[in-house]
Amino acid sequence: MSIIIRRATAQDALGIFTAHMRSIREVCSMDYTSLEITAWSGRNFRADFICQSIERDFLWVIESQGTIQGFGHFAVMSEFEGEVMGLYLTPDILGKGLGKKLFLEFLNVARKHHLKKISLHATKTAKSFYEALGFLQIASDTSIEMKGVPIPCFPMELELS
Ligand SMILES: CC(C)(COP(=O)(O)OP(=O)(O)OC[C@H]1O[C@@H](n2cnc3c(N)ncnc32)[C@H](O)[C@@H]1OP(=O)(O)O)[C@@H](O)C(=O)NCCC(=O)NCCS
Repeated sequence: MSIIIRRATAQDALGIFTAHMRSIREVCSMDYTSLEITAWSGRNFRADFICQSIERDFLWVIESQGTIQGFGHFAVMSEFEGEVMGLYLTPDILGKGLGKKLFLEFLNVARKHHLKKISLHATKTAKSFYEALGFLQIASDTSIEMKGVPIPCFPMELELS
């Protein structure tokens, strides 16, 4: 299976959305209730939102045989701080080091911008993955509301030296 990681373009919007929803439904579903998964993955496709992010922020896709199987979204929020806005892989490509490769792309951007820290809200599914990369939980467990349903998550940060 040939797999490439490349910067996202506007043509990737639907592929990114499809991989994102698959990752929630088929990977995060191991750690969340069906009510949570339905609310979280129930959004409509909005190409304009995704294209705005592609233009404004830093997005990469993981492509395998013409299909987008995952994406990473990193945003520079201030002179000091970057935020991981999304990192979602389909079950077809988990456990091959690709999540970490996308994270290293985020880290490159953070270093080029001389950022002091990277923050994110980790899912239950990804918390240990981020801990392995050096992130620490910095506040109490919280949640992000999707369609009126709170989706539990963990505020985390990585200090950059
Ligand atoms: C979290 C996620 C991106 C990890 O991607 P992945 O490609 O499977 O992870 P990798 O293969 O790059 O793993 C990198 C390292 O983290 C470890 N790791 C990966 N997932 C882990 C997990 N859930 N718990 C503990 N360790 C984990 C691996 O063992 C590996 O360790 P190593 O470097 O010592 O070999 C992927 O599981 C995913 O898409 N999850 C669902 C979506 C999600 O919750 N995204 C997070 C949004 S905040």
